[in-house]
Amino acid sequence: MSNVPVITIDGPSGTGKGTICSYLADWLQWHFLDSGILYRVLALAAERKGINSDDEIAIVTLAENLDIEFKNAGTGSLVNIELDRKVVTDEIRTEICASGASVIASIAKVREALISRQRAFQEAPGLIADGRDMGTVVFPNATLKIYLTASAEKRAKRRYEQLKEKGINANLRDLSAAIIERDERDSMRPVSPLKPAKDAIVIDTSFLSIDEVLDKISELVRNAIPKLKK
Ligand code: C5P
Repeated sequence: MSNVPVITIDGPSGTGKGTICSYLADWLQWHFLDSGILYRVLALAAERKGINSDDEIAIVTLAENLDIEFKNAGTGSLVNIELDRKVVTDEIRTEICASGASVIASIAKVREALISRQRAFQEAPGLIADGRDMGTVVFPNATLKIYLTASAEKRAKRRYEQLKEKGINANLRDLSAAIIERDERDSMRPVSPLKPAKDAIVIDTSFLSIDEVLDKISELVRNAIPKLKK
């Protein structure tokens, strides 16, 4: 078992996870695993190849052979994502792609096929891991486990603002329904459901600004990893 420190941040969409993880990866200059990207890129690859989400064998084979590249400077936040050597960074950000990801993410063998790729991110000096099952399944021995939550209404609004900022068209009511459906599917699935690890610190971000959440988490990080001197 590697002794490279890992900080896991799990929770549903729209809780501020992505922003917090990018901040932590840049601040600490640690590696960053945004595990949702694997499921989103797999959904996109399946769509491009015309593979139906109920063709489990074909999806698992695709997961095992997925040609995906995370582009950053080695550590810190992500810059670009490539599938088959072509940039897909914006394409995978739509809610349609996220829903597709959520459907195939409930297949046990797909999760199994992607686990070693995720664990390979645990490299010195440390790893920030963002997802749904980082603290429960992928990195059960993480140094610090955080679970972010927020009301469905707040989460939908945040996602809406994020998509708008990226120039992606969205309708708040449709987005809200899609997010609730996705989170329900993620929470109810029998394999690696979305839930806090027993030893996770749960933070409700409904009424906190991003700076307030960052302050809280930075404090938790300093306490969990005293040798940081940050
Ligand atoms: O985090 P993101 O919104 O990009 O994740 C997209 C979908 O991928 C989630 O709704 C979930 O179904 C799946 N996922 C997962 N396990 C992870 C990360 C994402 O099942 N660790």
